[in-house]
Amino acid sequence: MYKVILLNSSPRKQSNTKDVLNVCAKAIESQGIEVEIIDLKGKDIKSCIACNKCVEKGNCVLNDGLPEIIDKIRNSQGFIPAAPVYFGTARADIMAALQRIGKVSRATNKFLSWMVGGPIAVARRGGQTLTLQEMSMFFNINEMIIVGSNYWNMVFGGLEGTAIEDSEGIDNIELFGKNVAKLINLINK
Ligand SMILES: Cc1cc2nc3c(=O)[nH]c(=O)nc-3n(C[C@H](O)[C@H](O)[C@H](O)COP(=O)(O)O)c2cc1C
Repeated sequence: MYKVILLNSSPRKQSNTKDVLNVCAKAIESQGIEVEIIDLKGKDIKSCIACNKCVEKGNCVLNDGLPEIIDKIRNSQGFIPAAPVYFGTARADIMAALQRIGKVSRATNKFLSWMVGGPIAVARRGGQTLTLQEMSMFFNINEMIIVGSNYWNMVFGGLEGTAIEDSEGIDNIELFGKNVAKLINLINK
């Protein structure tokens, strides 16, 4: 069975980003694809230290829980990282994670190549477009396939539990999830 990993970088207990990912995950599952939502919450994700040990070891040597997540991504066909917007850009730990995931892929068998997905950004009021662009750089440099929808993958919500009320944003994420799943089913035939 094909699988998509959805990565949530919110530190909040009742996270808007997680609520949005739950919607996305359901849409993917509706097309017969397995999903796993992984939270970075509680992990102290470190930034790449450019040690290059991933070339020789096949995974990142920073022991903060990310290497295990990298193994899960390696064995999946889809990847969807999601970030709350902090001061107009992506929360820092998701960028640190993406840089390390990309470094390991490029140091090994390029497992990200042709992986399907795209980024999601959640914010109270502004900064989603730059956050999406920031995260898209990871997809483009790793030969990944970003899937489209009716709008960009941005959802509005500030207080906990409010993003789900952004019906246009949520509809867009549902369509995005379905499109991700449809493409995975097509290209892995
Ligand atoms: C440090 C910090 C910076 C933030 N910066 C922005 C911002 O630039 N633009 C915005 O619209 N919301 C900003 N927010 C609000 C969050 O993006 C918003 O509450 C979002 O729903 C959080 O998602 P979460 O519940 O998944 O953590 C900021 C929140 C924090 C804690």
